[in-house]
Amino acid sequence: MRILVTGGQGQLAWALGKILKGALLLPRQELDISDMEALENALEKHRPEIVINTAALTDVDRCEDEPERAFMVNGIAPGWLGELAHRFGFILIQISTDYVFGGEKGEPYTEEDCPSPISVYGNSKLVGENLIKASMDSFYIIRTSGLYGPRRKNFVKLLLERVRKGEKPVVVKDRFSSPTYTLELARQIKVIIEKSPPFGIYHAVNHGSPSWYDFARKVLEYSGLSPDAVQPVSSEDFPQRARRPAFSALKNERLKELGLDVMSDWAGALRSFIEEYKP
Ligand SMILES: NC(=O)c1ccc[n+]([C@@H]2O[C@H](COP(=O)([O-])OP(=O)(O)OC[C@H]3O[C@@H](n4cnc5c(N)ncnc54)[C@H](OP(=O)(O)O)[C@@H]3O)[C@@H](O)[C@H]2O)c1
Repeated sequence: MRILVTGGQGQLAWALGKILKGALLLPRQELDISDMEALENALEKHRPEIVINTAALTDVDRCEDEPERAFMVNGIAPGWLGELAHRFGFILIQISTDYVFGGEKGEPYTEEDCPSPISVYGNSKLVGENLIKASMDSFYIIRTSGLYGPRRKNFVKLLLERVRKGEKPVVVKDRFSSPTYTLELARQIKVIIEKSPPFGIYHAVNHGSPSWYDFARKVLEYSGLSPDAVQPVSSEDFPQRARRPAFSALKNERLKELGLDVMSDWAGALRSFIEEYKP
């Protein structure tokens, strides 16, 4: 099957390249998804049967400073991909985020819950989802959360780097999500491609909803470092440019109902990442 992955140098794209043998990964330098002509040319040339759009402006704080760019890359461009999917006849797999939710529910969000983003990033990703839904039917929107893995900057790698330098980083204790290992998500996406369940929105995360502080402690414990090297802080005392949902954990309800959920719990996934890659 001809699979094209956008945002080819990102952390999820790398994992997809490892799991989906033969997939074509196009980095931003070769395919800028905010350039409609470049998109048409790439699709004409490669004629993919599936496009997995991982390309996004993922720096949540930067999105607050560059809203136009965020809405272009995370919103308008996925909408174009939706229109092009209709025209070229490919299946579009759009990667979306837990940040489309506002965080007030207090328990894991399912696909049935109504989005209510509170940041430019979350709003821009929701625009992407909505434009895709409006343009055609043969799509999977896969919402995930807190990605980490061997490639690129991410929470796990930055934390370990700082602690090994002798720093004592602060980590929020009152914000909860579903941290997810890129390689497990890539395997889950492979299952979706192979089993072709009904089109629509799916949540795909490692199970559970730790606070970032509890997650950080486990990162250190599994790496043979003292968990006490991180200090808990409340989000009120840790101001950031973008607002973030207090509770944005997701539940893979639809995958589970269909018997297709292959994700493990968050601590098990974290342990296998650390044992395998020793970040
Ligand atoms: N990271 C998370 O915690 C998280 C959580 C939930 C959902 N997601 C979603 O999961 C997907 C993958 O995230 P990730 O963590 O793999 O992100 P990532 O490592 O930041 O990769 C995103 C890639 O997109 C590329 N890109 C940016 N603008 C582009 C454009 N105009 N055209 C083409 N490529 C462009 C970036 O290029 P450069 O290499 O030049 O920067 C980067 O390589 C995204 O859709 C994201 O919204 C991520």
